[in-house]
Amino acid sequence: MLNNMTNIAELSQNSFKHRHLLGIDGLSRGDAYVIMELAKNYIVKNRQPDKKHAILKGRTLINLFFENSTRTRTSFELAGKRLGADVINMSVATSATKKGETLIDTAMTLNAMHPDFIAVRHPESGAVQLLAQKVNCSVINGGDGCHEHPTQALLDALTIYQRKGKIEGLTIAICGDILHSRVARSNIKLLNLLGAKVRIIAPPTLMPACPESLGAEVFFDMRKGLKDCDIIMMLRLQLERMTGNFIPSVREFFHFYGLDEEKLSYAKPDALIMHPGPINRGVEIDTRLADDLNRSVILDQVEMGVAVRQAVLELLANK
Ligand code: NCD
Repeated sequence: MLNNMTNIAELSQNSFKHRHLLGIDGLSRGDAYVIMELAKNYIVKNRQPDKKHAILKGRTLINLFFENSTRTRTSFELAGKRLGADVINMSVATSATKKGETLIDTAMTLNAMHPDFIAVRHPESGAVQLLAQKVNCSVINGGDGCHEHPTQALLDALTIYQRKGKIEGLTIAICGDILHSRVARSNIKLLNLLGAKVRIIAPPTLMPACPESLGAEVFFDMRKGLKDCDIIMMLRLQLERMTGNFIPSVREFFHFYGLDEEKLSYAKPDALIMHPGPINRGVEIDTRLADDLNRSVILDQVEMGVAVRQAVLELLANK
């Protein structure tokens, strides 16, 4: 529980010293709990008719998304607006990027307009870190290639914490396309930091090289990997990052690695099902399980996403 894991000093908002949020690397356990504790206040506020604060009045957030997004982009926008900031959504499809402008030139152009935050999603691993070196404002990584997606891991941790009352000691299985998943990488780091036992389950073709080095127990069989788990995180096949045939067919993938009632029965009876979205029904998860509100917390994750991004913006604004 929180009180056993962190002391009061660790939980002080003043102890959060970061200018950017580029990844889970560099965050302490205390930082993660400061974000989650602050986010809890926003969960309550976001359920009320008046959701507005003035904490970020006068500040500007630019959403710069070079990849498709529903949840992450919308929740950054809502988070900024609910805190009183002005929010600009850059549409990359209609931006000067399409005229050959480099990422660095785009970054320096936006920087000249004095934003306070830029939330960036980019298909190349490391691109967000590079951009952060060129601007004066805070940069938040909204997902870079197969590398990191820190706010997703934080909202996942908050979802677990809210539902289970703890993270330490839980057995958490992350299943599916581990190879291409920034969600898996950020989650493995954060859940380890918070004391969970992390497992990864994937076919050999979708498992990274030297998977043990990620800090998780490795399984190639769903039934063995799910045995006695508290949390099951399913992942989408990241087809947009695949350069060849990684699975024989979607049908075969579902047969061996899709979550259905039978495979789920190996986990603990109160195990929760998570998924960062977007879900592909019948590919990585049985459609009835995705909608089973007794087991699936997929929509809780979406709700936590707004609150976590509000907390991150507030903390970064104080730096
Ligand atoms: C994830 C992403 O973009 O990395 N989605 C998200 O942020 N909610 C996972 C995915 O696209 O499959």
